[in-house]
Amino acid sequence: MTSRRQFLKILPYSFLLTACKPLVFDTKKVVKYELAANKSTFNFNEKFKANLFLYNNANPGPLLKANVGDILKIDFKNNLDQPTSIHWHGIKNINKMDGVPYLTQDPVQPGETFSYEFPVNQSGTYWYHAHFESWEQVAKGLYGPLVVYDKTDDLIEDDIVILADDWRLNKNYQIDEKSFGSLMDWSHAGRIGNWLTINGKKSPQYSIKENSIARLRFINASNARVLKFGSSLKNNNIITIDGVAVKSMLVEDFTLAPGQRIDLLINTADLLKVDFFEISHTKQLKAFTLNVTKADNKTKNITNIKFKSNLILPKIDNAKTIDIRMQGGAMGNLSKANLDGVEKDFRTLATEDKKLWAFNKEIGSYEYLLATVKLNQVVILDVWNDTRWPHSMHLHGNHFFVKSKEFKENNDYILRDTYLMQAGEKAKLIFVADNPGKWLFHCHMLEHAASGMVSYIDVV
Ligand code: C2O
Ligand code: CU
Repeated sequence: MTSRRQFLKILPYSFLLTACKPLVFDTKKVVKYELAANKSTFNFNEKFKANLFLYNNANPGPLLKANVGDILKIDFKNNLDQPTSIHWHGIKNINKMDGVPYLTQDPVQPGETFSYEFPVNQSGTYWYHAHFESWEQVAKGLYGPLVVYDKTDDLIEDDIVILADDWRLNKNYQIDEKSFGSLMDWSHAGRIGNWLTINGKKSPQYSIKENSIARLRFINASNARVLKFGSSLKNNNIITIDGVAVKSMLVEDFTLAPGQRIDLLINTADLLKVDFFEISHTKQLKAFTLNVTKADNKTKNITNIKFKSNLILPKIDNAKTIDIRMQGGAMGNLSKANLDGVEKDFRTLATEDKKLWAFNKEIGSYEYLLATVKLNQVVILDVWNDTRWPHSMHLHGNHFFVKSKEFKENNDYILRDTYLMQAGEKAKLIFVADNPGKWLFHCHMLEHAASGMVSYIDVV
């Protein structure tokens, strides 16, 4: 793997594809897309046009599809009047394609282009989003779904992305711009919205076929809201988490923190209609509806769908442990912290620098190096959420094992790229550092990241 990745770094794929016939990867298909970040308008309500930032003027941005083993090539153009970049959330990427401004690439300036090109070697549900001042750019709609399919997906009749976003709109169905940068939001739970959309719509309807299998791919693109979904089915069958196949789990409802994905499989035999609800709001909201339609002929054999789950925890005897104490925020215990090498008290940091969160007393940024680890080293991020707030912790470029307390009787290690840590929780995030480069580790509540809860790990 490593050698191929390094090899791909040196030569452009197109050259490889045309000039080097006998290589293993000469069958790799290059799947091409064009994305443009535009200032666009969008109707949340028939009467009012909201000013958003959108990829290809669509909300969400276009669904990018590839098969496992393909190479994705995305030619990107920035038509905004501010810099931006795109991050491919959950993809085990080549570092220089990871889309983190200043760390892995220069920001893409207004009017400039950037070509992202990387192999996708793991199937699953992913997403892409702006990574420059994402607390504003993502809040205005710069994101879209990315799905990598494998053979098993051929057996599935209906495959539907359910990309959820929690917008904060004003009375005129415009983005509430005044509250961008609110110290109250930044020091508390982040920018919590008041308007839930599924694929850009309020309570949309989808049709799925009877006597078959449907796959739903949930993605939470919210700035900060931890969504919770339930349905009119007693059991919801979770088959993948953050793109990774798990032993099937039947749950009544499930949480989806910012950045996380969960896929469900639904057997549509004997179903007429399924309603999904979002239940984190004080009032339960109808999220979307699936209407089951008659199929003329018997569809696929639904008994032979098996998702391989082969999670093998790496040996941790010689692991390198990195202690991370998360601090700050409202009602927290952070009295002083270092910002660019200068120790300041919390009040000064909050009011003058708008910095509110820290790892190990350091106010983070895209340039804050948390630790350097050797290539192929087993790493344990020993994280303590010593704050009064939950945080959705995301590691770029790698999945990590975590003993999740979320799935009660299935309380076992799962492999994910974003983990919701409750206030006071301690967790070990374990991964093999087999992907060289500088990988961000940050809170995906975007206001928390902007105000200090961000760092990177250098794998050398
Ligand atoms: Cu989806 Cu650095 O994030
Ligand atoms: Cu956070």
